[in-house]
This record gives sequence, structure tokens and C-alpha cells, in this order.
Amino acid sequence: LDTKTPPYNTGDPTSFAYVSARERWPVIITQGIDDVHRSTWASKDEAAATEGKWIISELARLKYELQHDRELDPIPDDGEADAAAYNRELEALGRPKWHSVPWLYSECYLYRRISSIFKQTQKWKYYDIFARQKMSTFQSSRPAVLELAGRYKNIVTELESKHTIKGAQTQEDLLEAERALFVEMCEICLWGNATDLSLLTNLSYEDIQKLQGSEARKASEKNILVNDLGEAFKILVAAQRSGKKDRRLDIVLDNAGFELFVDLILAGYLLAAGLANTIVLHPKSIPWFVSDVLPQDFAALLVALADPQAFYSQLSDSDKEAGKVASPLSDSDVSNLKFLFEHWSRLHTEGQLVLRPNTFWTAAGSYWRLPKTEPSLHDDLQQSELVVFKGDLNYRKLTGDAAWPASTPFEEAIGPLGPGSGVRVLALRTCKADVVVGLPEGEDERVKATEGGGGDSGARKWAWSGKWAVVQFSNGKA
Ligand code: F6P
Ligand code: MG
Repeated sequence: LDTKTPPYNTGDPTSFAYVSARERWPVIITQGIDDVHRSTWASKDEAAATEGKWIISELARLKYELQHDRELDPIPDDGEADAAAYNRELEALGRPKWHSVPWLYSECYLYRRISSIFKQTQKWKYYDIFARQKMSTFQSSRPAVLELAGRYKNIVTELESKHTIKGAQTQEDLLEAERALFVEMCEICLWGNATDLSLLTNLSYEDIQKLQGSEARKASEKNILVNDLGEAFKILVAAQRSGKKDRRLDIVLDNAGFELFVDLILAGYLLAAGLANTIVLHPKSIPWFVSDVLPQDFAALLVALADPQAFYSQLSDSDKEAGKVASPLSDSDVSNLKFLFEHWSRLHTEGQLVLRPNTFWTAAGSYWRLPKTEPSLHDDLQQSELVVFKGDLNYRKLTGDAAWPASTPFEEAIGPLGPGSGVRVLALRTCKADVVVGLPEGEDERVKATEGGGGDSGARKWAWSGKWAVVQFSNGKA
């Protein structure tokens, strides 16, 4: 079911897996412990507080095992059906230890293990250990959120009332304007992914804000090493012109907060422009890779937009301690954000914007397994004109997280989801891991030779930081 090319492993000192397992994951667990501490301390419910203490001790134990390179223990029976598959795979891997185990499996296992701790309690079953972090980074994206909200309102109003885009005189102009907007929205979506929380250990809020502005986006185009957006646009236009009634686009979501916000901007644009008439969003089912979208993150985003003034006046504890005060939003900002709220809520209520969870997205395996292990989901994705996979982890799962030569064609590296799969795949990915495919001959070496690119150390360091990106398309229906 998986790639013959071996996957990256936490035992390989040249891989980002090595640093992740030793440095990043202990920090992520520690932050989780802090979060549960805060909630336990704030809780008035005695039973919940007792369970909170037990959760903290279990998280501390997990961290100890990780740092002392112990074996990965089977996931305890927590009432969820997927534990068995995780445990079968653990056996098949021969009870590996944390510091020498396939990266993809062990990182998924980490989040599944954390989830099992909560699932075993009564009061914390649905608790999201990363929710605080997700909301507060969204808050800190305020400048970019306001900029985009204003543009979105203008574009959508124009499209819905006059069926055109400002400045477009002829049908050809309109198509060109739609194409340019499509590319821009997708690139906003792409770079929205550079801000995920699991990497936040080395980015400041100022860095994030810089990444999100429109100037930065233009400057970043040269960092998109492969850009197949033109082909994806052609597919949507061809479907539109064929007169087909049901034209669906899917987004396999990645992160909550700012990234989800820009995903919805893209979704709303596609619907308003008639480039699709249903958008299906695929969230995760358990707290995942720190910042990934859960169904409740979608709801939380809408609540924030419904009363933006209230949302932006909430200060984090550290801001309060630093004596900061929130500056109120202007009337036009408030009205732009409320416009988003109303538009997205309407699309959701009318069934044009759908959330469709599936536990396949939080299984340990790569997407090479999709046709065999989850045929009904495969079938469902075949109904879509285009399936957009957001972010780094989805890309790792598409390619099996395997050590392919960088010039391996994308279609080959995605195996069973490639040619003949009946699924059109578009990956929007900022690179935060080792795997990368589909590059022209010599490109990997060129980027390695840039500053911080890894040189001839044997490590592909340029691909670790989110500075570079790839946008790759495979037409599985051709
Ligand atoms: O490389 C760092 C990392 O946390 C990986 O473990 C993971 O694949 C990725 O980043 C998560 O990023 P994204 O949210 O883009 O999938
Ligand atoms: Mg993520």
C-alpha cells in the first residue's frame, strides 16, 4: 500500500525528523501541559480538576518516554475504533523507539496518543488542548484579516450584483480578471499556511504579520518553485463552460485561524464567481499537529466575525500583564467583517459550503492507502472537479513522506491518487519537511546552495522553514 522508496525516519540526523522528535515535540507537549494546568486551575468542578491532574501526569509521562527514547506504547483502549489500526501498525513496525521510527507514523501517533489521554476521561473528552493557541494567533493576524476582509467585500458584492469584476469590459477581460483573482486568492491561501503553529517556536508575531500582507505576497512569488495554478484554473473554467450543474471543489483543510480564514476567502470567491457551486471542506476529528482545523474551529471563527469588536477587545493574559490595550476597530472594518460573517453563514446554511469530517484524515498512514482502506471517501473525492490539499502534512501524506529524488514527477510520487485515480489533486504547500518532488533537474541543488539551504551537508534544509513553496497539480481524470 505504501511507497517502495523508504520514508523519512527520526533516526536520520540529516532529516528534519531528527530535530522534530528531539526538540520540537517536547516543546509542544510542554505547552500542552501548561494549557491543561490553566484550565484545571480555573475549573470549579472538582471531578474535572482531579481528571485534569491525571491528564497532566499522563502528558508528562509521554514527554519522558519521548525524551528518553523509550518504545512507543500501544494506544490504550479509549473507545475509538481507530486505535486498533494504530496498534497493528505499531506491531508491524516491531515496537519501535521514539528516536528511530518512521517520521510520519510517529508524528501522527503522537497526536493520537495525546488524544487518547483526553478520551479516557469523563469531563475532558472533547477538550481541545490547542484551542487557546489557535485563537490567539488568529487574533494577532488582525492587520491581514482587515485588509482581506475589505477586498473580499468589494469583490463579492461586485460579482453578486453585477456579475463582473471592476474594470472588466468584455467577457475576455472578465475571464482574465477571474484568472488573476483566482491565482491571487490561491497564493494568499498558500502563504496562509506558512503561519502554522507547530513551527511558531521560531517565528515572532511581527514575522507572521509581514508574511501575510499583500506586498509580501508579490515578493514571495519567486519562492514558489513550481506553480500549476494556471492548469487548475483551466479545469474550473472548462467545467463551468460545459454547463454542468453540479460543480464541486473540495479543500482538505490544514490549519485553523488565519489559514482557515483565507481558505474561506477562496471558497467564497469561487462560489461568487461561479467557478464552483459547492465547496466541501474536510476538517480533522481530533486535535492534530497543533493548529489543524476541527469542526468547532469553524464555528469559533464565525463567532469571532459575528462580533468582531468584542473578539478583538479580548486580550491575552500576557498582553494584559504588559499593560496593553486593544485599539477598537473602525466602523468600516466592523462592517467588512460582519459582511464576511453573513456571507459565509448564508453559504453554510444554504448548503454551498459543507463541512465533511472523516477519521481517515487522522489515521497514521499516507494517502497512498486511500483507495484500499477508505474506498467510500475515494469515491466521494472522485465526484469533485478539484481536490485542494492544503499544507505540509497533507503533502507529506500524498507523497508517502518518502525520500524521493526531488525530480520525481509529482504524479508518480502520489501513487494511487495519481493518473487513473479519478481524483484531480492540487497541492498548495509551503515546505516544512524534507520531502519534495516535481522539481526541474538541478533545482534542489540550486536552492541548497542559497543561504541556509543546507549546502552539501546532506540535509535539505531549505525545505524546513516555510520560506519556499510548491503548487502542484495532477489530473487523475485525464
Ligand atoms: O515540519 C514541521 C511540521 O510540524 C511537520 O511536522 C508537519 O508536517 C508540518 O510542519 C505541519 O505543517 P502544516 O500545518 O503545514 O501541515
Ligand atoms: Mg497543520
